[in-house]
Amino acid sequence: MTPKEELEALREKVSFHLYRYHVLDAPLITDAEYDELYRRLQSMEAKHPELITPDSPTQRAGSQPLDVFEKVTHAAPILSLANAFNVEDLFSWRTRIGRLLPDAEMPLDYVAEPKLDGLTVVLTYRNGVFVQGGTRGNGEVGEDVTQNLRTVRSLPQRIPVDPTSDLVPPAYLVVRGEAFFPLDKFETFNQSRMETGASPYMNPRNAAAGSLRQLDSAITAARPLTLYCYDFIAWEGGDIPEKQWQRLSYLRQLGFPVSPDNIYCPDLDAAASAYDSWMEKRNKINYEVDGVVIKINDRPLADSLGFVGKDPRGAVAMKFPAQERTSKLLGVQVSVGRTGILAPAAILEAVEIGGVVVRNATLHNYDEIARKDIRIGDTVIVKRAGDVIPYVIGPVVELRDGSEQPVEMPTKCPACGEPAVRIEGEVAIYCDNINCPEQLVRGIEYFVSRAAMDIDNFGSQTAALLVEQNMLKDISGIYSLNRDQLLTLEGFKEKKVDNLLKGIEASKAQPADRLLTALGIRFVGTVVATTLLRALGSIDALAEAAQEILEAIDGIGPQTAMSVKSWFNHAGNQELLANLKQAGLQFAAVAEDRAGTTPFAGLTFVITGTLATMSRQEAKEYIEARGGKVVGSVSGNTDYLVAGEKAGSKLSKAQALGVKIVDESGLTELAEG
Ligand code: IVH
Repeated sequence: MTPKEELEALREKVSFHLYRYHVLDAPLITDAEYDELYRRLQSMEAKHPELITPDSPTQRAGSQPLDVFEKVTHAAPILSLANAFNVEDLFSWRTRIGRLLPDAEMPLDYVAEPKLDGLTVVLTYRNGVFVQGGTRGNGEVGEDVTQNLRTVRSLPQRIPVDPTSDLVPPAYLVVRGEAFFPLDKFETFNQSRMETGASPYMNPRNAAAGSLRQLDSAITAARPLTLYCYDFIAWEGGDIPEKQWQRLSYLRQLGFPVSPDNIYCPDLDAAASAYDSWMEKRNKINYEVDGVVIKINDRPLADSLGFVGKDPRGAVAMKFPAQERTSKLLGVQVSVGRTGILAPAAILEAVEIGGVVVRNATLHNYDEIARKDIRIGDTVIVKRAGDVIPYVIGPVVELRDGSEQPVEMPTKCPACGEPAVRIEGEVAIYCDNINCPEQLVRGIEYFVSRAAMDIDNFGSQTAALLVEQNMLKDISGIYSLNRDQLLTLEGFKEKKVDNLLKGIEASKAQPADRLLTALGIRFVGTVVATTLLRALGSIDALAEAAQEILEAIDGIGPQTAMSVKSWFNHAGNQELLANLKQAGLQFAAVAEDRAGTTPFAGLTFVITGTLATMSRQEAKEYIEARGGKVVGSVSGNTDYLVAGEKAGSKLSKAQALGVKIVDESGLTELAEG
């Protein structure tokens, strides 16, 4: 291809995906993939400026408004933002604007705002009354969605919202905000859509856009749309503050919803750490964020820097690494869980997401596969967010070519070959064979894990090997493993065997709540196990307790009570318990025992960076199991910061506040007193 042809093809591709995203609210590729295409187009155009055409997507903003809505002409262009992808990009942005400043080194302060992944709305107020609301459209002309916006409960119909306020806003005021779909509502919303046969929205942004662009505002009203405001587009008959930070508080005073997570940054280093802290936080908040917008606080100065195309120079969007990518679903593998659940896992064409190559992802369960109509051969969207296992969001139905095949439900257990069963009223499919070797391996893995009996030197491979070699027939067999027999295993030298046996021996002293957790009874995790034992005193008493007694315990519901009861009624489980008792494990959780297990009672922890051996989730469980509390951000109330490698801004904040800092081994030392 000649550069001209290549550019032509790229232009077409970018325009097409822009249209899918902005006009149809139904993208076929992820935002990150779009960004990549767009950047390719930009850099090719930079190399061949003579080949830039006026219809190139780089030469215009946004998309054409749909004809079905009245058009609104914006009071001023609704601009976009240039992207930066890392801290280096941020610093080179600063260098670039330095060349336009009277003094390149002049100190600047900034505001860091979460870049909400919703859609821009432009709100016009006359004499304090909301009179018009539009979408961004192509930046100059948008769609009139006033009626729909009126149904958004957080949007002020009249300002100032507080009738006792003596603020008098400009007689004419245009505010910019971002409408979005709260994450906690998104999943359930999509589910109920699918139940009625409608196709699910691919992400919360599309759900927000789809909700706002309804022809019947009653539909919009029924959706949990909300918004945050962050700027003034135009005003007459009054003044607004010159600093962005003051603009945000002015918006708040008038009664507009403003993100509580904006950060004032006295310098660019502070802006860079705002980016770090947001990257950690992004999966913990109730709205989708795809980056952080860094804005020069002095707005007249920022505005004086002008634009590059449709992007003002005075602000930059620092995008987060992608968490979503498209890939091809090559097949579905069935794995057997500890409780016998047959869980489908996606086998994917390798795809890099956030620096990690992903080849497998969870598909949750077969009901979900059916509901989302995921087929083998589909292009699927895969998400990998924080500590969460990568999962398949759904197929891109439009990209099917007809060769896709339905996913077959397993009819038998892949490990033991026994028939798979479906329990009435449950979504999962089970292997019902209590002697299934794979279930046993999973059960042992869980029993020895850190959250349960915490047996050192006992990993998944050891569990699988011992079951395969018939050295373990049930969990209690762990306590009668024979040293000579272990020494016959490949790779098991004296030292390794002794360490393993030492760990097993030490676990006999674990308190009864850990043992109860380790049994892996459905719905009985660390918290429920502790509750049950606090109320009843011992595992023996629990085994005897009637269901009504269990249900009467604070924090125990009928489902849990029933699950506990049926577990203890099972003859095989009774035998297992007898064997564990025989082995000398702790069955009674007397108060004196318990006191020693909560060394962190009353203490608040924050975890940051990469720890030596624990994941952050494991560290959280470790602390909580010992009575401590784990929170997301460092404050004066934090007792300890647990810091691993690459700890970012939380570390500096903790240092500044004089919060005690420990690493992983410091944490375990603390726990052991
Ligand atoms: S400022 C000239 N601030 O991100 C100012 N934009 O890529 C330009 N966005 O189209 C926008 N949160 O839809 C700004 N706190 C925020 C934002 C934000 C989300 C969106 C907005 C814009 C896009 C820019």
